[in-house]
This record gives sequence, structure tokens and C-alpha cells, in this order.
Amino acid sequence: MEAARIGIAQVGFGYWGPNLLRNLAGIAGVEIVAVADTNPRRLGELSRGQPPIATADDYRHVLARSDVDAVVIATPADTHAEIAAAALAANKHVLVEKPLATRVEDARSLCALAERAGRVLMVGHTFLYNAAVRCLKSQIDSGALGDVYYVYAQRLNLGRVRRDVNALWNFAPHDVAIVLYLLDAFPREVSARGFAYLQPDVDDVAFVTMDFPNRQAAHLHISWLDPRKVRQTTVVGSRRMAVYDDLSSDARVVLYDRGVDRVPTVDSPRDFNDFGDFQLRLRSGDITVPALTVPEPLREECRHFIDCIRSGDRPLTDGAHGLRVVEILDAAQRSMQQHGRAVRIGE
Ligand SMILES: NC(=O)c1ccc[n+]([C@@H]2O[C@H](COP(=O)([O-])OP(=O)(O)OC[C@H]3O[C@@H](n4cnc5c(N)ncnc54)[C@H](O)[C@@H]3O)[C@@H](O)[C@H]2O)c1
Repeated sequence: MEAARIGIAQVGFGYWGPNLLRNLAGIAGVEIVAVADTNPRRLGELSRGQPPIATADDYRHVLARSDVDAVVIATPADTHAEIAAAALAANKHVLVEKPLATRVEDARSLCALAERAGRVLMVGHTFLYNAAVRCLKSQIDSGALGDVYYVYAQRLNLGRVRRDVNALWNFAPHDVAIVLYLLDAFPREVSARGFAYLQPDVDDVAFVTMDFPNRQAAHLHISWLDPRKVRQTTVVGSRRMAVYDDLSSDARVVLYDRGVDRVPTVDSPRDFNDFGDFQLRLRSGDITVPALTVPEPLREECRHFIDCIRSGDRPLTDGAHGLRVVEILDAAQRSMQQHGRAVRIGE
């Protein structure tokens, strides 16, 4: 059976937009109808392509088209809320790049708009469509790591320095989304420090700590001013530990059968009186590398968006997920403005 046709308009065709367009165009039944960008130089090649794609310098023109069912937004973060709201108001399904919005109230009202319109609202938290992150999640959910104590992530690079958002809002949406997904929990409070060196008031580096219920913790180190490109997430559990290295070609996820066991020093467990009755014994076992095939995560993300439009299912990274990420980034930003004071979400 032929897949139902879905007409797509894309808004924003800068660095990331062409990647989205390429992946969407490869999905059966998807027709790229139009692309809007305020910079006409970005659009020239599209109208000359085969097949030619209609272009506009004002996104409202593409929203007005009746052959557009869904809109994909890849513009700077501070424009997401306005464009996504207009697209939902025009009854279109929306895939918006991360972050969903730069203000919590905007993210919340986008979720309400999508509910009222009965349209799919999905956020481009690409890493949740990454087979390595899924593998890490299944290791945690299967109990292979035991109780997860803490997670830390490093997303470091030299460049792409932005002017519209700081490094926190540019890179941390990925890591916050990954942490929420892995722990399946929401932090009670967030503390963060940020430092600006290259431009006034635009933080180049951020250190974020999230306190979760059950004494779980997550720490993020984010920077576009670092000598090395690093994209790693480490999960420390009571039974095993795991490292996800997005840049590794042959060992994206490594499991370490390592830890510290509490071994009784008295015969019967009933005799335990205090901590002194235990000995802490280091355990250093096998290191294993699960075999993984990692299809392009952006292709998986685009397919998921189209599948949800066709099935009516809620996306994994729906508006509610995007809102939770924005709430945490907002708390981190407020903590940074107060030199690291712990901020309760919603405070
Ligand atoms: N998921 C990922 O891994 C990933 C990676 C890179 C970027 N992104 C996201 O993609 C978005 C775009 O990032 P980028 O690096 O491509 O930025 P960019 O600055 O290179 O491109 C943005 C484009 O949007 C256009 N634009 C700006 N305002 C507009 C408006 N009101 N209407 C129409 N067009 C407008 C600009 O002219 C530009 O061509 C950001 O939200 C970013 O967070 C996501």
C-alpha cells in the first residue's frame, strides 16, 4: 500500500536545515513543498534544484499553503516559539529544533496549542533517536547497571560559537534530554555556573548539576571553548558502569563490570549494627562492548515524526518532553545569574 502523502514546509535553511531536509526527502510519501528563510542567499539553490522547491523569505507564506501538512523549524532558538505557535495555529504538525522555546511559559503554551489543535508537536532532541543512547537506556532498564547513582556528560568543542544563545542553551538541551530519558526522573533542583570570555554576557562554558530524588545526580560540562571535541556520557551504577562515547567508531557504549561492593565482616546479616560491619571491596571485572548498528539518528528522528503524523501516536520527544528540558535550562540559567545558587524547578 502506498504511504499517505505528507507535504512538508521547512522554516530555516542555515547550517542544520539542509540535514533535516535531506532526511525528510528520503522518506516514502513525503513531499518537500516549500522552504522559508529570511536570508535569500540560503534559498537560491533550492528553486534551481530537481524537483524545484518553492521558496519564501517570510515563513507566513509557507504556512498559508494548503498543500503543507507539517512544518519543520530550524531557525535560531529565540524564534522557535513564535514560528511554532503560528504553524500550530495554521493547523500544521510541527517538528521544532531544540530547544522547544527559550522561555518556560512559551514552551507551556505551545504544548497547550498542540493539544487544542490535535496536531503533533515534536522537538528535535536527536540523541534520543541514537541507537547508542537507546542501548544505554536498555542496559539501565534491564537492571544490568544496578541502581544508577549518578550520570555525567561532557559536550565540548572549539566552536561553533553562537551569538543568539549561550553554550548552555545551544548544547545542553541534548544532554538534559539524554539524562531525563536515562533516569526517567525529574530533578528537584539545579545549580549551575557559567563563564563568558569571548562575548559579553554570552557564556562559553557551563557546569550544571541536577539533584534528582533518591539521591541520584547528574552533572553536565558544556563548552564551545575547549581544545578537544568530546561527547561522552558516563553512568555509574551499583553493579556496573557504562560510558557512551558518541565519537567512537567501534565502541560507542562500553560496559565496565566495576564497582565497590559492601561485603559483610560479620557472619550473620542480623548482627549488622553499623557501617563498621561492612568492608568496601573494589570489584574490577570484564569490560564489554555491545555490538551496535547506529543508523543516522536524524533519519530515525524524521521517520518518527512522519510515523506519528500518520498513526496519531505521541512522539518520544513530544512537547511535554521539550517543556521539561526548557524548565531545567531555565532553572540552570537563573542559577548561573545567581552565581550557582541552587534553584528549585518552578521557583
Ligand atoms: N539537533 C541537532 O543536533 C542540531 C544541530 C545544530 C543545530 N540545531 C538547531 O537548529 C536550529 C538552527 O541552527 P543552525 O545551526 O542551523 O543556525 P543557523 O544560524 O546556521 O541557521 C538558521 C537559519 O534560520 C534563518 N532564520 C532566522 N530567523 C528566521 C525567521 N524568522 N524565519 C525564517 N528563517 C529564519 C537564518 O537566516 C538562517 O539561515 C537551532 O535551533 C539549533 O539549536 C540542532
